[in-house]
Amino acid sequence: VRRSRITGCGSYLPQNVVTNQDLAQRVDTSDDWITQRTGIRSRHLAAPTEKTSDLALAAARKALDHAGIAADQVDLIILATTTPDHTFPATATRVQAELGITHGVAFDLQAVCSGFIFALSVADNFIRLGQAKTALVIGAETFSRILDWEDRTTCVLFGDGAGAVVLQAEEGEGTSADHGILSTHLHSDGRHYELLWVDGGPSATQSTGHVRMVGQEVFRHAVTRLSEVVVEALEANNLTAADIDWLVPHQANKRIIEGTARKLKLSTDKVVMTVDHHGNTSAASIPLALAEAVHDGRIKRGDLVLLEAMGGGFTWGSALVRM
Ligand code: ACO
Repeated sequence: VRRSRITGCGSYLPQNVVTNQDLAQRVDTSDDWITQRTGIRSRHLAAPTEKTSDLALAAARKALDHAGIAADQVDLIILATTTPDHTFPATATRVQAELGITHGVAFDLQAVCSGFIFALSVADNFIRLGQAKTALVIGAETFSRILDWEDRTTCVLFGDGAGAVVLQAEEGEGTSADHGILSTHLHSDGRHYELLWVDGGPSATQSTGHVRMVGQEVFRHAVTRLSEVVVEALEANNLTAADIDWLVPHQANKRIIEGTARKLKLSTDKVVMTVDHHGNTSAASIPLALAEAVHDGRIKRGDLVLLEAMGGGFTWGSALVRM
């Protein structure tokens, strides 16, 4: 059975670290408020000259190194981002060019905070169908560029960063399908567009706009939808939460993550949590958390890992992966 396996992970965070205390100098907030409601202590912000493609490229290079493959083996690049360098071309093509790749296909994918799961699912399908052999799946964001730095209800929540994985085609033994990406589950429901959105864009306003969010509503939907999509992944594979070695959730908010783990009766010891030191980095957060846990030795080859995310749209999804 042909499957795609994650053979390398990498991440990149910009150098500039901004703490909650730093933010309290800019808007009416406090370290206590931010820590208690979100679990976030600091975030990294890109330098003015640093673009999403720069972050993506740094993470991609580390993922390629970790996989031990040369860039020219890559025949598919999918970059999940909400903050592309330019309206077009796709930022993925810039990454492709910087890596010196002139064959294959590179494109961006937009599903906000669920972007990495959506991109992983698309890349997995390319590989299963034999349309690609080696994919780079990247989540990269400079969310700081679309924040309203006067709005304390949103600007304290987000940060910049990038994460990437290398996916490679692998033929399993006999009929066994228990290797690589086992299944992915994607959803969207556009009725909730304006609960979490950017109030600008090329077609609607010819401007970039800023993130707007109805926080409590988003919170309520997030815990419900995430629990559903995690159960969907387990049931599709005849597994229970007890079979999971690690949950790697989208890092939006400690309370959403803990609420989801509680609903699943999953111990927080099995949950990778990195939101405290990079805030919500949208599409970058899952590969950032995954890379951290793989490189510090928590996640090992053979572990069963469940990824999940929810974001604007709404969009939400999960992926069950045998590492
Ligand atoms: N500092 C201090 N006070 C603040 C701040 C701040 N940064 N922001 C809001 N407040 C105030 C509000 O003005 C309000 O004051 P009031 O009672 O005088 O009106 C009070 O704090 C409570 O505000 P709420 O919005 O009710 O606070 P809540 O407990 O809901 O927490 C939060 C807000 C953290 C945004 C929460 O709703 C949340 O986590 N929502 C999910 C949002 C999220 O993670 N989105 C990310 C994208 S979606 C995703 O990735 C899943």
